[in-house]
Amino acid sequence: MAAEGRTQVTIIGSGPAGLLLGQLLHIAGIDAVILERRSREHVLGRIRAGVLEQVTADLLGEAAVGERMRRDGLVHAGFGMLVQGRRHRIDLHGLTGGSTVLIYGQTELTRDLMDARHAAGLPTVYEAEGVSVHGFEDRRPYVTWRHDGREHRLDCDFIAGCDGFHGVCRASVPRSAIREYERVYPFGWLGLLAETPPVSEELLYISGERGFALCSMRSHDRSRYYLQVPLTDQLSQWSDEAFWQELRRRLDETGREQLVTGPSVEKSIAPLRSFVAEPLRFGRLFLVGDAGHIVPPTGAKGLNLAATDVKYVTDGLIEFYRERSEAGLDEYSVRCLRRVWRAERFSWWLTSLLHRFPDEGPMGAKLQQAELDYLLNSEAGLRTIAENYVGLPLQFGETTPRRDTRASP
Ligand code: APR
Ligand code: PHB
Repeated sequence: MAAEGRTQVTIIGSGPAGLLLGQLLHIAGIDAVILERRSREHVLGRIRAGVLEQVTADLLGEAAVGERMRRDGLVHAGFGMLVQGRRHRIDLHGLTGGSTVLIYGQTELTRDLMDARHAAGLPTVYEAEGVSVHGFEDRRPYVTWRHDGREHRLDCDFIAGCDGFHGVCRASVPRSAIREYERVYPFGWLGLLAETPPVSEELLYISGERGFALCSMRSHDRSRYYLQVPLTDQLSQWSDEAFWQELRRRLDETGREQLVTGPSVEKSIAPLRSFVAEPLRFGRLFLVGDAGHIVPPTGAKGLNLAATDVKYVTDGLIEFYRERSEAGLDEYSVRCLRRVWRAERFSWWLTSLLHRFPDEGPMGAKLQQAELDYLLNSEAGLRTIAENYVGLPLQFGETTPRRDTRASP
């Protein structure tokens, strides 16, 4: 089997983080093998947010997988907020001096990355069972797994843990070497995907008496909606009709008039969580993307954070192989975590602002309304939302700009 023997980097997980890393390493001439626990179809069946910051879209362009994204992605220069029955617009473009976001489904992005990998003939093992990581603390990393009834072993220089929140990589680090920060929110998001035109041209975030809702989209004829629901709710309680009825209640008159309903293509409930592991490097093992941190989806930052982790680890690996320097790899954790914590803060803040918190009582609700009233009627408040939503520049807060290793010969 192609994966047996030795490679430079073993990537665990073929979500967006693992696939993008594989692609960028390939372009840089670094060998990598991806091991994925699930089937390709299973990975492509997951529905997740698809709001790309410019930094992420640029990186996908660099990875030579940006063609369909540029063609089919929807450029959004703003989004709406419906708060206590009143509509506001966050003019992303105007408030940030020209920045926008790109709406492109994560499933489509994953498919583009898989196709590019397949076309380049790069090795991916799907349905790899019992993946286990070894030796990363003493510079002799290797990975073992089972596939087709046989045991396999792959020796490598580095292991990239791109295996998501429930993966094996973070779980393999000694407890004394890692610190984990976590907050679980007292509600979940019930999501519904439908082959219907979206209720408005831009995304609409809704906060009101009945709780949070979000009207999003995948294209001009595919919409994605979410409702804040209690954590105790089961999917079986929510027929499509019940979902549409509740969404109508959270919308305003205009929204109700424009809403087009239809049968669901997918429906699921996801809990909301803020989570960060520190550090993100353990010898020759790196945690990348959801394996190292989770944000609640309110700010749509999950994929964007994964992309910047990938950029930083790629830069470090290129520097290692081209210049035999570990400087970039040594900085990986610190560089990522600064950006991660900023996005954690924004995602937590936006979540706190827009959801109903059952335990906060009437005082909490009034303070939340007052904060929204201030933010949405102040230029500074609107700008704070906008500049975080489009994503802070990669160099934000850095005093000395880093060299771009890919520019060197
Ligand atoms: N062995 C091999 N593969 C594994 C293992 C394992 N033990 N555990 C998990 N995986 C795989 C999962 O099946 C999944 O395909 O790792 C992959 C992790 O992918 P994601 O969960 O998508 O994580 P990531 O690539 O970091 O994604 C970052 O995309 O999926 C969203 O919410 C996520 O927005 C975030 C962004
Ligand atoms: C989505 O389209 O799934 C989506 C968009 C924006 C978010 C979260 C999810 O903040």
